[in-house]
Amino acid sequence: MSFPTQRPRRLRRSEALRDLVRETRLTAAGLIYPMFVCPGMNVRKEVSSMPGVHQQSADQIVEECREVESLGLPGVILFGLPESKDARGTISTSADGVVQRAIEAIRKAKLELLVITDVCLCEYTDHGHCGVIENGNVANDQTLPILAAQALSHARAGADIVAPSDMMDGRVAAIRETLDQHKFNDIAILAYAAKYCSGFYGPFREAADSAPQFGDRRSYQMDPANAREALKEVALDLEEGADMVMVKPALPYLDILRRVRDAFEVPVGAYNVSGEYAMVKAAAQKGWLDEKRVVLEILTGIQRAGANFILTYHAKDAARWLKA
Ligand code: PBG
Repeated sequence: MSFPTQRPRRLRRSEALRDLVRETRLTAAGLIYPMFVCPGMNVRKEVSSMPGVHQQSADQIVEECREVESLGLPGVILFGLPESKDARGTISTSADGVVQRAIEAIRKAKLELLVITDVCLCEYTDHGHCGVIENGNVANDQTLPILAAQALSHARAGADIVAPSDMMDGRVAAIRETLDQHKFNDIAILAYAAKYCSGFYGPFREAADSAPQFGDRRSYQMDPANAREALKEVALDLEEGADMVMVKPALPYLDILRRVRDAFEVPVGAYNVSGEYAMVKAAAQKGWLDEKRVVLEILTGIQRAGANFILTYHAKDAARWLKA
């Protein structure tokens, strides 16, 4: 049976009809807001390539978290800009590191927010790589104990979920083991399982001051050309004890999201990264795109492709638009 009996336009005639048959419903409940913590008090500095996103001290983070909570968003993910850096990112494991103190401040404010932390070394190493360097290479196994210690310090400070983004092999197992040894059996791991080596992280590296000082991340982050390998990465992270997995970036990898969603029975997140945000902001500022419309379309598309939740710098705006 086809035309003229079949007329798909019948179900598009009014907003009530379109709403009735809508397959994907975007809500604020599935959006996580990324934030950048820096040292000090009363610091709030906008990231030039990410309008609306700030590097802020813990007190200011708490203020923005109040807003995040009032918008109905479920949580935040924290990144740190430490006071100092060294070759091993040692300060990232310190109980009074920037992220650890920000978590405590959020907890003290008694906000109903999930606190997720990014676990990685690149923000804390003077060379900007996600692991320690030996003989000019990023050394996998030597990095694992530092990542585990960092995750433990986040858990001690009160994080709900730790999210390793370093792409070292075996890091989920190392983190799970350390958390369990210290009775943090209930702290969940959200693995950046399929994290690609992407040009779309550019603005983030300004925000987090984490650009590699030599070379690139191709020896640990995934090759953008590979899809089957993403399924392998996800399978390994789940075997090692990940509770949830993530695909990152989002827009150029919607096929990966769909394949991961279909192949595994765990919650799947997508990271709508800094470069994806910056492109929309820049075009909107020039008047070339309708920001509200494209942001809601992008987030709907990422959800339709298979994401159960989305990490996005658009979270606060989207929550406002979805309410209105
Ligand atoms: C840290 C990390 C990065 C991002 C999240 N965690 C940067 C990178 O791998 O270079 C990127 C997030 C974004 O671009 O919004 N390893």
